[in-house]
Amino acid sequence: MTTWQWADDRESMAALAASIITREVNGGVLLLPTGATPVPVYRRLQELYERGEVSFRDVTTFNLDEYVGVPEEAQQSYHRYMEEHFFGVVDVDRRRVHVPHGMARDLEKSCREYDASIESAGGIGLAVLGLGQNGHVGFNEPGEDWEQKTHVVSLSESTRRANRQYFPKHAEVPKRAITVGIQTIVASRAILLLVSGAEKTEALLRLSRGIPSREWPVTSLAGHGRLDVVVDRSSVSEDVYRDIVSRIPATLER
Ligand code: PGA
Repeated sequence: MTTWQWADDRESMAALAASIITREVNGGVLLLPTGATPVPVYRRLQELYERGEVSFRDVTTFNLDEYVGVPEEAQQSYHRYMEEHFFGVVDVDRRRVHVPHGMARDLEKSCREYDASIESAGGIGLAVLGLGQNGHVGFNEPGEDWEQKTHVVSLSESTRRANRQYFPKHAEVPKRAITVGIQTIVASRAILLLVSGAEKTEALLRLSRGIPSREWPVTSLAGHGRLDVVVDRSSVSEDVYRDIVSRIPATLER
């Protein structure tokens, strides 16, 4: 079953997302995103932790993706992002956090080891996902085979353009990344998709129509047994909002 929730803005989206994520912290296994959308979510989780309302000691986390060839300590790496926004500011047990190794000498082997760690943790309990403007989830790009687990992917031009802003002017945006595959994502017991940004409109409409298409990886989530879609309504036009809720009634307005 898919539940659509419309948050007034990014902050209320973050509050809603944090309340869903904190249900998993007692021994749960999370799949975690990076990007601009989740920043307020991590900030909210940090606040809850600082107020003593939640502890992440018992949670196991896996990140969705990482660039190939970007050192962990580099400003643009997702290792660094996670340190700054989450791991370094809450009480996670570092033995239980995992981020793909984009600097591994043997990337294939590293992907297989990542899958094995996910499996030995008992699979993913809650996958938290952002959405790319081309419909990617994690770095699963349009046209890719959905039967994959963790793998190396060639980033699309659209993704490289969208992420250009995070790299210095003359530095090249990486051409490859490691991503957890669609097979693993859809095998998660629950999925939380966070959508913010007018440039995501087409991908969002595709998901709302529920017709699976390999050109729109997010449509692989349609039909999942427990999918929560949380949309930042302030970033979506009134027409798009009306179009979606006319077909799919909003279950909760915030
Ligand atoms: P964004 O990225 O949150 O920075 O828009 C989302 C994504 O590409 O998955």
